Amino acid sequence: MLPRKSIVALLASLSLTSAIPQQATTTTTSTSTASSGSSTSTSSTTTTTTQAAASSSAPATRPGLSSVSHGAYSGSASVTGAVTASSVGTGIVVGGVPPAATTYPADGQLHDPEPAPYVPAGGVGLNTTPVYNVKSDFDFESLALALYQEWIELDLFQYGLEAFSVSDFEDAGLTAEDRALIEFMAIQEIGHATVISNMLGPQAPVQCNYNYPFTNVREFVDFCQKLTRFGEAGVYGYLSHLDSREASQLLLQSITTEARQQLIFRQFEGLFPMPVWFQVGVPQSWAWTLLAPYISSCPTNQTRLAWQNFPALWILNQPNPVRRNATQGFNETLGAGTNTLNSTGISGSDACFNNTDKSNDCNPAISNNRSIPLSYPRRVVNLTWEYPGKPVGPNSSYVTSSTAGSPAFVAWVSQLNVTYSPLNLTSNTSGTTIQPSVETYEGDPAVNGTLFIAITDSDLYLTPFNLTLINEHVVAGPALYQAG
Ligand SMILES: *[C@@H]1O[C@H](CO)[C@@H](O)[C@H](O)[C@H]1NC(C)=O
Ligand SMILES: *[C@@H]1O[C@H](CO)[C@@H](O)[C@H](O)[C@H]1NC(C)=O
Ligand SMILES: *[C@@H]1O[C@H](CO)[C@@H](O)[C@H](O)[C@H]1NC(C)=O
Ligand SMILES: *[C@@H]1O[C@H](CO)[C@@H](O)[C@H](O)[C@H]1NC(C)=O
Ligand SMILES: *[C@@H]1O[C@H](CO)[C@@H](O)[C@H](O)[C@H]1NC(C)=O
Ligand SMILES: *[C@@H]1O[C@H](CO)[C@@H](O)[C@H](O)[C@H]1NC(C)=O
Ligand SMILES: *[C@@H]1O[C@H](CO)[C@@H](O)[C@H](O)[C@H]1NC(C)=O
Ligand SMILES: *[C@@H]1O[C@H](CO)[C@@H](O)[C@H](O)[C@H]1NC(C)=O
Ligand SMILES: *[C@@H]1O[C@H](CO)[C@@H](O)[C@H](O)[C@H]1NC(C)=O
Ligand SMILES: *[C@@H]1O[C@H](CO)[C@@H](O)[C@H](O)[C@H]1NC(C)=O
Ligand SMILES: *[C@@H]1O[C@H](CO)[C@@H](O)[C@H](O)[C@H]1NC(C)=O
Ligand SMILES: *[C@@H]1O[C@H](CO)[C@@H](O)[C@H](O)[C@H]1NC(C)=O
Repeated sequence: MLPRKSIVALLASLSLTSAIPQQATTTTTSTSTASSGSSTSTSSTTTTTTQAAASSSAPATRPGLSSVSHGAYSGSASVTGAVTASSVGTGIVVGGVPPAATTYPADGQLHDPEPAPYVPAGGVGLNTTPVYNVKSDFDFESLALALYQEWIELDLFQYGLEAFSVSDFEDAGLTAEDRALIEFMAIQEIGHATVISNMLGPQAPVQCNYNYPFTNVREFVDFCQKLTRFGEAGVYGYLSHLDSREASQLLLQSITTEARQQLIFRQFEGLFPMPVWFQVGVPQSWAWTLLAPYISSCPTNQTRLAWQNFPALWILNQPNPVRRNATQGFNETLGAGTNTLNSTGISGSDACFNNTDKSNDCNPAISNNRSIPLSYPRRVVNLTWEYPGKPVGPNSSYVTSSTAGSPAFVAWVSQLNVTYSPLNLTSNTSGTTIQPSVETYEGDPAVNGTLFIAITDSDLYLTPFNLTLINEHVVAGPALYQAG
C-alpha cells in the first residue's frame, strides 16, 4: 500500500510532463528522480515501466523554453504585484526561546535509550518514509523562486557562450577547456530545474526570457559570479526553515553545486576563490529583488511569486575587480542590485588584466593575491537608491515596496553576521556610510568576498536563523558589495 501522500506526489509528478506546454518532442513519459524517491519501492516500478520507451534508463529532464529571447520588455506593464493569500497578517510574532531549547545536557553522555545499536536517540525524520514534495505555501514559494533562479542560469551560461566569440574569451584569458566548463555548468542547471520542478508539480514555473546587462566577457563572468552568489545565499537563507525536510535535502545537494560554480566564476575573474570562512544566507525577498530585474517576460499563465521586491540600490563607488586599484572607479557598474562591474574603457595601466604589475594581476587563476585589496575597513561608501512603487521583473508585473521608516543604517550581511553602519543622508535617496571593521571570529574579517548590503531604518540585532525579520526594516536594497 502506498501512503496517501506518496500517491499524491506521484500523481503530481506524472501529470507534470503533460502540464508543460513547451515540452520538447522527446517521447519519454518518465517522471522524476524525486518521485521515484518519494514513493519508494512501489513507485519505482511505475517509473521503470514509464521509462521503457526512453532510450536512456535514467529519468527524463524537464526542458526549458525551446527559444529564449533576450532584451528589454517593451510591452505595456500589466502590473499585478506579488501573489497574496486571502488574509494577510501584520507581522510575524516572535516568541521567546522555546523551553526545551536549552535543556539538553551536552556532556558527551547518552541520556536516552538508543532505538538500535549505534543509533543515538533523537533526530528528525529518521523513522518516516520520505516524500519529496512541498508541504506548505512557504515551501512552494521558496522552491518556485529557486526554480526561477535555475532557469535563468541555464540560459545565462549558454547565452554567454553564444554571445561572445572564441577570441573574446581568449582575450579574457579563458580557454576552450574553460568554455567547456561553463557549458557543463549550464547542463547542471537542467538537472537542478528538473528536480525542483518534480517536487513542485504541475504548477512549477516555466523558463522565461531575460535581459542581461553585460557587454563583454569580463562583465559576463562578473555577472555570473554575482548571480550565483545570490542564488546560493538565497537558498541557504531558507533551507532550514522549510517544512519539507526531504525537499531541503535535495535542494542542499543542488545548491552545493551552485556554490562550486560561484567559486569557479571568481577564479575566472582572477579573484581570490574564497576569502571568507562562512557562506552567507539571505531571505527569499532579497534573492527575488536581485533576480527579478533580469527577467524581461514570462509565458502566459506563468506561476507567480509571493516575495517582495525592494527598491533598487546602487553602490556608486563599488570596487571594480578589473581595475588594478579597484577602489578608484566611480559609477562603474552596469546598474543597481548586483552592481556588476563595467569594464568598458578600462585598459592599460588602469586595468589589472595583462598588467605588467604581476602583484596586481587579475587574469584567470586558481588563486590570486592582489597586493591592493578590493576594499578595506573604514572606507567611505557612496550609495543611492530609489523610492518604492516602481514596476520590475517579468512583464514589469511586480512593484517595488518597502514598509520601513526613514533610512538610518546600512546593514552589512556577510558570513554569520549582520552588522550596521550609520548612514549619513545627502538627499532623501542618497547617502554615505563607512565600511565596518568587524571580524566573524578572530582573524576573519566579516566584510569580505561578494556580500549583501541594504539600507535599513533600524539596527535590529539579527543572527542567521532569524535574518528574515530584517525585511520590514529594509528601505532599499539589497545590493552586492564587492569587498574581496
Ligand atoms: C591577455 O593575456 C592572455 C594570456 O594570459 C592573452 O591570451 C590575451 O590575448 C591577452 N588579452 C589582451 C586584451 O591583451
Ligand atoms: C579579503 O580577502 C582577501 C583575499 O584573502 C584579502 O587580500 C583582503 O585583505 C581581505 N579583506 C579584508 C578587508 O580583510
Ligand atoms: C508577458 O509578455 C510576453 C511577451 O510579450 C507575453 O507573451 C506573455 O503573455 C506575457 N505574460 C503575462 C503573464 O502576461
Ligand atoms: C492559461 O490558463 C487558462 C486557465 O487555466 C487556460 O484556459 C488557457 O488555455 C491557458 N493559456 C495558455 C497559453 O496556456
Ligand atoms: C588606490 O586608490 C585609492 C583611492 O583613490 C587611493 O587612496 C590609494 O592610495 C590607491 N592605492 C594604490 C596602491 O595606488
Ligand atoms: C552613472 O552613470 C550613468 C550612465 O553612464 C548615468 O546615467 C548616471 O547619471 C551616473 N550616476 C552618477 C551618480 O553619476
Ligand atoms: C559603462 O562604461 C562606459 C564607458 O565609460 C559607458 O559608456 C557606459 O554607459 C557604461 N555602462 C553603463 C550601463 O553605465
Ligand atoms: C598572499 O597573501 C597572503 C595573505 O595576505 C600572504 O601571506 C602570502 O605571502 C601572499 N603570497 C604571495 C605569493 O604573494
Ligand atoms: C562620497 O562621499 C564622501 C563623503 O561624504 C564625499 O566626500 C565624496 O565627495 C562622495 N563622492 C562622490 C563622488 O560623490
Ligand atoms: C557621517 O557624519 C558623522 C558626523 O558628522 C561623521 O563623523 C562621519 O564621518 C560621517 N560619515 C560619512 C561616511 O560621511
Ligand atoms: C558575528 O557572528 C559571530 C557568530 O555568530 C558572533 O559570535 C559575532 O559576535 C558576530 N559579530 C558581529 C560584529 O556581529
Ligand atoms: C534574533 O536571534 C537572536 C538570537 O540568536 C536574538 O538575540 C535576537 O533578539 C533575535 N532578533 C529578533 C529581532 O528577534
